[in-house]
Amino acid sequence: MNSHVKLDPVGELVANVSVPFERAKAMPKSVYTSPDFMKLELERVFSKDWICAGRSSSLAKPGDYITMSVAGTPVIVIRDREGKLRALSNVCLHRMSTLLEGSGNVKAIVCPYHAWTYNLTGELRGAAGMGLNAGFCKEDYKLPQFRCEDWLGWIMITLNPDIEGPSERLRDVSRLVGHYGMEHYVESFRETHVWNTNWKVLAENFMESYHLPMCHRNTIGGQVSLEQMDCPTGFPTFNYHWALKSDDQYLALAHPNNHRLAGDDRRRTYLLSIYPGLFISLSPGYFWYLALHPRSPGEVDMIYGGGLSPEFLADEDSDRHFASLKELLDHVNVEDKGCTEKVYRGLLGSASDPGHLSHLERPNYEFAQYLAGMIK
Ligand code: FES
Ligand SMILES: [Fe+2]
Repeated sequence: MNSHVKLDPVGELVANVSVPFERAKAMPKSVYTSPDFMKLELERVFSKDWICAGRSSSLAKPGDYITMSVAGTPVIVIRDREGKLRALSNVCLHRMSTLLEGSGNVKAIVCPYHAWTYNLTGELRGAAGMGLNAGFCKEDYKLPQFRCEDWLGWIMITLNPDIEGPSERLRDVSRLVGHYGMEHYVESFRETHVWNTNWKVLAENFMESYHLPMCHRNTIGGQVSLEQMDCPTGFPTFNYHWALKSDDQYLALAHPNNHRLAGDDRRRTYLLSIYPGLFISLSPGYFWYLALHPRSPGEVDMIYGGGLSPEFLADEDSDRHFASLKELLDHVNVEDKGCTEKVYRGLLGSASDPGHLSHLERPNYEFAQYLAGMIK
């Protein structure tokens, strides 16, 4: 690409999704590399849709919190004393320092700068040395709050006051996998990572299992066949595909005590891509997920977590099961890191160009349509 050619990522993306799927190509390079396009993504996608902050079971006790940045806005997700999950602005109302870092448990939110102190619902509780300012009134200060909902065990937050709630917006997820009882799956691990790729490269990697036989040839690739995959048409707010697991993948199957699932569902893994950034692999025996947010065009912030289904968790061998599952997931994740970072390095080069999509990459095409619809 000549450097003097002005990029028009939105126009290129709209043109890309106007081609019928049967002739479609991967998204244009500019949507991955352009800082201007990422600004639009933050403004029109990550500020407007529901963003996942992980599992609500990870914030079990009053005062348990995590922090994150949603489209540049620092946010605390915290469980208050009444047990309600809240998303509060993580910025002090005095001279605007950020308040909490990372994750943990607090009795009150104390600013690290001059110690203004807020309770768990965001009201200012104390501010030393402020008594002589006649205009200061403690009761006027309350941290701004954002919408925060527990949806099937997922913490969903949004900066958008107007968007429909997750149970309406994602009602077809419940129709599709409600019988799996995802809300009862408990997270056993939660990690945060930064990978050197565009967030959409990683999202697209999750959406297709076409890469499994090659990228994952040393782990799970041998257990899948391209002929047995199905990529049904998705929905405006998410896409999905599924794969049937074989008898030797014990943890991917329904536990004998699982009476919710019957027939092929006892061995069916759903791969749910919930736009824009939540990717869930849901098996009868376990789940794992990625919650993504762009950090820069070439860097993605991720929450990586998962755990066992309730029946495997109650099993006397649950520790051993979990250890073997975590080891496998970590290997698979390292393979995905390699593949998605290679894609980003490749598409940065001047001689690269997007190629045609396989019929097994229909979800990628639908994801591009969602993005174009939100951004144009
Ligand atoms: S900035 Fe928070 S107390 Fe001063
Ligand atoms: Fe993968």
